[in-house]
Amino acid sequence: MNQDELKTLVGRAALEYVIEGSIVGVGTGSTVNCFIDALAGIKERIAGAVSSSVKSTERLRGHGIRVFEAGAVESLPVYIDGADEIDHQGFMIKGGGAALTREKIVADLAERFVCIADASKLVDVLGRFPLPVEVLPMAVGQIQRRFAKLGATATVREGVITDNGQLILDVQGLRITDPLAFETDVNQWPGVVTVGVFARHKAGVCLLGTPEGVKTLRF
Ligand code: 5RP
Repeated sequence: MNQDELKTLVGRAALEYVIEGSIVGVGTGSTVNCFIDALAGIKERIAGAVSSSVKSTERLRGHGIRVFEAGAVESLPVYIDGADEIDHQGFMIKGGGAALTREKIVADLAERFVCIADASKLVDVLGRFPLPVEVLPMAVGQIQRRFAKLGATATVREGVITDNGQLILDVQGLRITDPLAFETDVNQWPGVVTVGVFARHKAGVCLLGTPEGVKTLRF
């Protein structure tokens, strides 16, 4: 099975976690696109979705799925999203699609985070994937210097403005052995909007696409 087939597989498998009659939290990315397409098949059985990006909103609406504003919803039973990396505790790096801030906001509304990913995303230690950090333009130089002190290199993602009108730094050279402490620390740096470590909002379940089928990891 190739990577696209694995994404389709886990996108479909995630339907099992959708609660009948509920509003579903929907993430962003190519794996989530497979989930959205699968969700269209049961759209009569859900009330709608809260989306984490303009792109996912457009795709949901394209399928005739109602999209609610995050602020209009008190809580969600489940949030389904992909990841750039996930470790064996359910801690993740996210933001490869630049949607990390809205992803964290929607994840915060949810009782359960279901991560859908192909097996290449499973790692022992987070940091091989360049860590996305959404930042205010004024603080770019300062934040780059802070990462340099940690031995890492933070590069502005060319040609990308987030849905929130901000920039993304991609940080290479990190080995994140304590994701909770790292997330807490970097989130305090002035000018950081959101760091792409999802430790406080980690996955509760990961549906991992493997050549042998979908493996369910529970954390
Ligand atoms: C977007 C994300 C995505 O979940 C992450 O980049 C994985 O994407 P894909 O499913 O395309 O590999 O965090 O901001």
